[in-house]
Amino acid sequence: MHEGLAREITQYEQRTPRSRQAHTRALERIPLGVASNYRAYDPYPLFVKEGKGGHLWDLDGNEYIDFNLSFGALMAGHSHPAVVRAVESRLRGGTAYGMPHEMEWELADEICKRYPVDMVRFGSTGTEATMHAVRLARAAAGRDRIIKFEGAYHGLHDAALVSVKPHLEEIGPPGEPVAVPGGAGIPASHVANTLVASFNDLRSVERQFEKHPGQVAAVICEPIMMNVGICMPLDGFLSKLRELTQQHGAFLIFDEVKTGAKLAWGGACEYFGVKPDIVCLAKSIGGGLPLSAFGATRAVMDLIGQHKVFHGGTYNTNPISMAAGLATFREVLTRDAYQHVDRLNRKLLGAYLRITEASGLKASVVGAGANGVLLFRPAPVRNYRDWLEVDTELWRHYWFAMVNRGVLAQPYWWDEQWTISVQHTEADIDRHIAVFQEVAPALAHAQKEREQVAAVR
Ligand SMILES: Cc1ncc(COP(=O)(O)O)c(C=O)c1O
Repeated sequence: MHEGLAREITQYEQRTPRSRQAHTRALERIPLGVASNYRAYDPYPLFVKEGKGGHLWDLDGNEYIDFNLSFGALMAGHSHPAVVRAVESRLRGGTAYGMPHEMEWELADEICKRYPVDMVRFGSTGTEATMHAVRLARAAAGRDRIIKFEGAYHGLHDAALVSVKPHLEEIGPPGEPVAVPGGAGIPASHVANTLVASFNDLRSVERQFEKHPGQVAAVICEPIMMNVGICMPLDGFLSKLRELTQQHGAFLIFDEVKTGAKLAWGGACEYFGVKPDIVCLAKSIGGGLPLSAFGATRAVMDLIGQHKVFHGGTYNTNPISMAAGLATFREVLTRDAYQHVDRLNRKLLGAYLRITEASGLKASVVGAGANGVLLFRPAPVRNYRDWLEVDTELWRHYWFAMVNRGVLAQPYWWDEQWTISVQHTEADIDRHIAVFQEVAPALAHAQKEREQVAAVR
């Protein structure tokens, strides 16, 4: 570990003793001491006391400007007044019915107005949305295989947990990625049905169609890959992917769990002007409550209506999440809100660019909609393999240095990105910029030292 990083981690430990205590206790009863593997990191994760608006407090009472925002699920910010009002007003009318109610049509209608779908069904998590989307596509196409992109994350079900973060030694040649299970317990038959291609490389997709003629039900794709920092699609990639799937009689599933609410009013479909067959939504559509949805054309969704494809869930459309979702769409994610967030993000991205250049830091700054990222690789990433070149130690230095100065710049892990919420203010962005300005020279210095050490080796 280089000296600058070690110093920041020591400071982190001095500032956050209560998080360490809470983590030590949690380790006795909870694997890794956390409820999702993504939340575990060394030396121990920050434990939260509370969040308000665009800010968060840890157990020791340290305040942070929060650009993690629950892994991007909170473009609304913490406890947005409109969401709180809607939830409070429903709380005493029952929290789960397991029966239909009128908010279902209302929210379905809101979604159909924003995204190019005719009908929707709801769930609680992104994992459910992509799982049902894949099943629906398989049923509609009468085929079993799907194609996903190397490095893309679509949730935790067996079809999706393939080649999520495979190691360099096991991934095969460029353009012909090998499918690698994302952990133990995934049946080999599932891995065999999930074919893997390289993002931004249409030929690699074509190759899979050619190798498995008439067998591919769907291509599932995050329009912007957001589990390798931010990986933008090259010009025309998504529209050509659309054509290719059509040529091969396969469905195109847009996993808009992240982009759906945060990229633009109408998600990536609107932003890129590409119409997929199935759209998956989750995270920020619920304003902080568990809510997801998947939608498609009437013909595809009718497979559920005809009892050919099964879909259910006890907590689907629970009134609390639905009230939060309605408030989020109607009062939070407005056209004006996108303008506000876009303006703040442009300011932040511009400052990051200026500061990295001025400090001599070799890094790329990429952003779109409410999201942005500093990637410790000189050029932006075009696919998962590019992202493997990111200097992770330098990233850790950046993250802990920002945290120690009161800015939770993004979720922990260098595959994530910052989110700006509608509740962030100009002052929050100015503070973020000032802290990065303070930290950047030390990062540039550490980068030079690390390069010199690597050159000697
Ligand atoms: C693109 C994408 N799809 C699906 C998921 C899974 O969503 P959830 O964690 O709500 O199951 C995630 C979660 O990070 C995601 O980023």
